[in-house]
Amino acid sequence: MSGRHDTMTEQTPVTETTATKVPTLPDAQTVTSVQHYTDRLFSFRVTRPQSLRFRSGEFVMIGLMGDNGRPLLRAYSIASPAWDDELEFYSIKVPDGPLTSKLQHIKVGDEIILRPKPVGTLVHDALLPGKRLYFFSTGTGFAPFASLLREPETYEKYDEIIMTHTCRDVDELTYGRDLIADLKQDEMMQELLGEENLGKLKYYPTTTREESPKMGRITTLIENGELFGDLGVPALDPATDRAMVCGSLEFNLDIKALLEKAGLNEGANSEPGEFVIEKAFVG
Ligand code: A2P
Repeated sequence: MSGRHDTMTEQTPVTETTATKVPTLPDAQTVTSVQHYTDRLFSFRVTRPQSLRFRSGEFVMIGLMGDNGRPLLRAYSIASPAWDDELEFYSIKVPDGPLTSKLQHIKVGDEIILRPKPVGTLVHDALLPGKRLYFFSTGTGFAPFASLLREPETYEKYDEIIMTHTCRDVDELTYGRDLIADLKQDEMMQELLGEENLGKLKYYPTTTREESPKMGRITTLIENGELFGDLGVPALDPATDRAMVCGSLEFNLDIKALLEKAGLNEGANSEPGEFVIEKAFVG
């Protein structure tokens, strides 16, 4: 921990110990909670800089001070909604990852670096109006949707929201599954989002390597029509359907091809379209 709260007063003269303490990090934020899900996944919350404004679905650069004394930063989707007092992040743990090998050990009270410059394309403004909104995610690609699922605008703009999440194993679905269960049980969330609005949300978790009620890559389940059959919705249609996508690079490319084949066009902040894509960043 840094010596942020240590003040040098007449009563506490500078000694060698106080003088050599680690200086406060630039853009430091304090960790308020940490939760581990598997040996590959964890989430944490930090204080939010008062000046930070962002749109649900955007990402920021966060990190730690590297061994060379320079900030080691990676892009992380903000998993908390824009109205939240704190910021939440959902992260993978890569054993030899320059950042996540260290970040996975953070504890409450530790500091991380957070550059308060949010950006990103998974925002409502980048989509044309529609009836049905798909959130397609794999692994930690769930993060921006953890933000958007807690955002009232999501439910105000669409009649139906379909959240798909594909992971290797059942345990890797925990973060998303718990979040959705909380949405439907938490009184504050029900009040904020509206009970009727929450009825618009359909959750479609699948696994690929461990037995679960629904198995298979979401791309396969789109191609063979199982997704639509299971949910009782028509096949993808550019007239009604919108999509946001977040996963690995290969996943994004495969989903993009399927969406384009169905006639949907990619949008951006500057030119809204029928779907938008963002890579889940790993480091
Ligand atoms: P699979 O087990 O068949 O590789 P990861 O943990 O490697 O990031 O993967 C998360 C999930 O995304 C896994 O279930 C994985 O399935 C799936 N996945 C990986 N690549 C693709 C892709 N190109 N299209 C669809 N699903 C994918």
